[in-house]
Order: sequence, then structure tokens, then C-alpha cells
Amino acid sequence: MDFRWDIVWSSFPYLLVGARATLVLTTVSVSAGIVLGTVLALMRLSRSRPLSAVAAAYIDVFRGTPLLAQILFVFYGLPQVLGFPLSSLAAGLLALSLNSAAYVAEIVRSGIQSVEKGQIEAAQSTGMTHGQIMRYIVLPQAFRRIIPPIGNEFIAMLKDSSLVSVIAMEDLMRRGQLLGSRTFRYFEVLLAVTVMYLVLTRAVSYLVGWVERRVRVAA
Ligand code: ARG
Repeated sequence: MDFRWDIVWSSFPYLLVGARATLVLTTVSVSAGIVLGTVLALMRLSRSRPLSAVAAAYIDVFRGTPLLAQILFVFYGLPQVLGFPLSSLAAGLLALSLNSAAYVAEIVRSGIQSVEKGQIEAAQSTGMTHGQIMRYIVLPQAFRRIIPPIGNEFIAMLKDSSLVSVIAMEDLMRRGQLLGSRTFRYFEVLLAVTVMYLVLTRAVSYLVGWVERRVRVAA
């Protein structure tokens, strides 16, 4: 087979724009997911039965249905109810954020629950209030422990965000497909796309490792 390096090189600028969209999509949705997911985790752990049940149901639905179905639902189904169309960027961001929140909620919940009961009892015996115990004892430790799984979530989303290509969002995947169909050099183009995904995920794991080392405590 003739392998055309020139196709790989000339694809680069076009694919780079897609990679930027992928990165923006991932960063924004995981960030929104962290905010919403933390709220969901606190609801899930709250003593209020209804709050906890709502959070549990949310997590069930968004973790238990395909992300692809959620993306299509938001892009094609939701406008029918809203009465106005959503751009593929808006629909993609919304679907990915809602999905990510369900995964983050479980990460945050397990992080909070990983703090031993004995520490909380010890803090209570010194007369600390519930809020103080959360603020000074539980959350700082939970925060450190959730960094690796949040990093995983980031990497997972970086790859899973490629599903938005089905709603014509020009992310890295979609641009790869477009360029492939335009040049008929799928091998070279998809190879470039794959390598770019790999570079992105490697960069993210490096970054997560760096943050992990920064917050590690001598124990
Ligand atoms: N493969 C899963 C699905 O289709 C991806 C879930 C999204 N991933 C994530 N870490 N939020 O449902």
C-alpha cells in the first residue's frame, strides 16, 4: 500500500481545529459535571429521603442509558418540547454535562464516604459543628481522594465526546470523518485522528498526575 505522509501532514491544521473543539467540549462538560455532580452527591447523602431519591434516580437514568441516546435525545427530542432548535454545540455540551454529572456524583459520594467514621466522631467529641467537620475534616480528605477518579472521568469524556459527531458537531472525530470522505484517504486521516486523541489523553493523564503529586500529603 502506498502510505501518503503528505496527507497526514496536510490534514493537521484542519484536524487541530477539531481537537480544540473536543478539548473545549470535554473541559466545559466535565467542569459543569463536577458542579452538578457535587450537588447530586450531597443530595444523595442527605438525610432527606426525597432529595436522596431524586439524586439516585438521576444517576440511574444517566448512567443506565447510552450517552449516544442522550445526545440524540437532547439534539432532536428536546427542541420539540422547547419550541426552538439547539445548536449542535449547545446540545452536545448539555448532554455531555448531564451525563458527566451522574458519574461525578458517584465519585464525590464515595470520596466523602471514604473518610473513616472514627475521625468524624473524634471531631464531634471536640465540639465541632457538622459544618465545621465537613469543612475541615471530611472535604479536604475527600478532595484529595477524588482527584484520580476525576482524572479518569476527564479521559473517558475526552474519548466519549466523539459521539457528538453524530449531531454534526465538528469535533476531532467528525472532522476526521469529513476529511476522510473528502480525500478518500481514510487510513492516513484516521491514523492522524487516533494519534491526536492519544496525545490529548496522555496530556490529561500527565496533568492529573501532576495535580496528584501537588496535593499529596506525607502520611
Ligand atoms: N460508553 C458510555 C455510554 O455510552 C459512556 C458514558 C460517558 N462516560 C463518562 N465518563 N461520563 O454510556
